[in-house]
Amino acid sequence: MTVADAFDAVAGSYDEARRRLVPCFDAFYGTTVEAAAPPLRAALAAGRTPEVLDLGAGTGLLSLLLAAAVPGVRLTLVDAAPAMLAVAADQLRARGVPHRVVRADLADPLPPGRYDAVVSALAIHHLTDAGKRALYRRAVAALVPGGVFVNAEQVAGPTPALDRRYDEVWTARITELGSDATEIAAARERMRHDRPAPVADQCGWLTEAGLVDVDCFFKEWRFAVFGGRAA
Ligand SMILES: C[S@@+](CC[C@H](N)C(=O)[O-])C[C@H]1O[C@@H](n2cnc3c(N)ncnc32)[C@H](O)[C@@H]1O
Repeated sequence: MTVADAFDAVAGSYDEARRRLVPCFDAFYGTTVEAAAPPLRAALAAGRTPEVLDLGAGTGLLSLLLAAAVPGVRLTLVDAAPAMLAVAADQLRARGVPHRVVRADLADPLPPGRYDAVVSALAIHHLTDAGKRALYRRAVAALVPGGVFVNAEQVAGPTPALDRRYDEVWTARITELGSDATEIAAARERMRHDRPAPVADQCGWLTEAGLVDVDCFFKEWRFAVFGGRAA
């Protein structure tokens, strides 16, 4: 089963389970929106429609939050899972948000265009480290000057001991929040596709790709939001 098949299989119930499986949901997505919003608001103030590219957009969770925070954005959603994208398109259409969905692998060339923000949530950790670095270079090249790249991500611990601790804390938190054994087993099955990397490595790759003001804006155990700005 590919990673896209694994997510397509749960497309109908994906959104409902998110707040249990991402215990820091509000701060995690909220920080991502805060980090991505300034160039979008600047584009609007300059009389331009802000363009946003959402990599591994799934059911459109992050795209919808961005569109609610900055009305007037135009979104391009990329994902390899057609059923996930169908849910996203339905939700964006229902809210009248201008968008296009592109079924593609994150290793493919990005949809043509220049973007005020390239964002991603919980998707890039499915790529190899070489794939992440290559995608970061392509994402940075697709930004307008002053545009931002923000990745809300599941990351690896910097040491094996910390990585084990991240997993213990996550398991305890999602159990407290009501995930049952079946939901945890299904999440762990999907996590067999994961290849997370530590935050420090990924911030280094973003700097190497040409971003400035690279930082980790939020981190709670295995959940981190990091990114930077195109000079
Ligand atoms: C955990 S979901 C995250 C969805 C959404 N960004 C969110 O925050 O809820 C991961 C998504 O990444 C997509 N994905 C994973 N690897 C991919 C790849 N190599 N190419 C395209 N999409 C990929 C999956 O299909 C899935 O929809």
